[in-house]
Amino acid sequence: MAETGALAVPAAALYPPTIVPPERPLRLRSALAMYVRNPLRVLSRPVYEDPIVVFEPSPKRTIVWVTRPDFVEQVLLGDNFQKTAVEKRVLGSSLGDGILTSNGAHWRWQRRAMAPLFRHQEILTYVTEMTGAADALVARWRAAGTGVRAVDEDMTDATFDVIARTMLMGGVPAEAELLKREGAAFLTKSSWELAWALLHLPTWLPHPGTWPMRRASRRMRGAVGDIVSRRRAEGAEGRDLLGRLLAARNPETGVAMDDEHVVSNLLTLLEAGHETTARALTWTLYLLARAPEWQDRVRAEVMAVAGSGPIEAAHVSRLLITERVIKESMRLYPPAPVLVRMPLTDTKFGDVTVRAGAQIVVPIYAIHRHRKLWSDPDRFDPDRFLPDAEKAMPRTQYMPFGAGPRICLGMSFALVEAVVLLATFVRAARFDWDGRHFPEPVSRVTLRPKGGMPLMVAPL
Ligand code: HEM
Repeated sequence: MAETGALAVPAAALYPPTIVPPERPLRLRSALAMYVRNPLRVLSRPVYEDPIVVFEPSPKRTIVWVTRPDFVEQVLLGDNFQKTAVEKRVLGSSLGDGILTSNGAHWRWQRRAMAPLFRHQEILTYVTEMTGAADALVARWRAAGTGVRAVDEDMTDATFDVIARTMLMGGVPAEAELLKREGAAFLTKSSWELAWALLHLPTWLPHPGTWPMRRASRRMRGAVGDIVSRRRAEGAEGRDLLGRLLAARNPETGVAMDDEHVVSNLLTLLEAGHETTARALTWTLYLLARAPEWQDRVRAEVMAVAGSGPIEAAHVSRLLITERVIKESMRLYPPAPVLVRMPLTDTKFGDVTVRAGAQIVVPIYAIHRHRKLWSDPDRFDPDRFLPDAEKAMPRTQYMPFGAGPRICLGMSFALVEAVVLLATFVRAARFDWDGRHFPEPVSRVTLRPKGGMPLMVAPL
């Protein structure tokens, strides 16, 4: 069998957990109750079947789900759409006016200042640190011996370790535990703030997430502020991310970021740079535990490419089955399952006219399982990403990293990292499923498995 070929003997079809959609858009009251539990449960069947679904719960509020690839391109690649106040309202208390939450010229100069760190050649120099972080987790697994582990927490530890080692010259800071803990606490409550924002309820009206989210934001910003102050005291030089943020100048004004702004961006990178990749790896290990034949294939590939030595930069482009499995995992469980935009003027999608200011939702989760775009969409099948099949896909049919100018800045970083970590883990241990855990994918800005991810980890 060719290394890149399909499985010679088709394994039993795997249909991992999904969400059964309501038949039609829910009424506002039940939609809200559902939304707080899991925003993905509000996506009705037509969103998985039609090119566009318009929902007008009241004359002033329009929500539009857009799934047809050329419509999605219009939203993400055109000039007429920008990020909404909703995103700013939900994430702004922690991420301030940083790259993820800003628009226009203010966004552009920040993106330019950070882009050099994420060029492919630069990323390959980070592989040693990635392997180091993966090996540290494997050593803990070996010390603990075979047993059930909270693999979701393990993945958070490993990816935070990677982002801190690569982005901060001094390595993992003392604040790491606090940042992981408070980041998770913040996201857990995020759908309350999202629901409040969609209802246009005032920010002074509290909800059950108000205080926990504010407290988490305050603590995270305080911790990152301490990291920045330490670096200022040591001298701001350094080719790492923090050094670059401190040295960056707005080309139009010549002004540097003040400390608050540096904190916003450093926190954005630390959070966006570990949480999403952790979720991608968590779901991938679940799928491999449920599809042992694919787990064996990944392991065999890693042995063939890297033997028993460390995974190196030169191996990454040869770990093709490993990469295909990760891509299929991010199709079924996109770590960032929903994007939101707002049209600046009235806009036509085919025959449908959408008013300026409407909420345009790009439901990546539903696009990745859309009935008109994929055959047997709920089935796990990494061969969808064989090279020819992948090339034939419109770029907005499969888009775990978004698309257009706001496409994930860390995309190449994340793909290399996911391959290096998965390869190291699967070669070092066997992952087994208990036969009972069918975690619902829950959107909390990122896509989490309900009930966490307990898997049997057996070091090899
Ligand atoms: C599997 C892992 C990842 C996934 C699925 C992912 C997904 C995404 C998506 C969908 C967006 C676009 C948001 C939008 O258009 O509204 C985004 C933006 C962003 N991501 Fe990622 N991301 C991942 C890993 C990373 C990593 C490792 C980093 C940094 C080290 C990172 C940094 C960013 C930044 C800074 C932005 C904002 C870009 C901008 O607005 O210009 N991401 N990510």
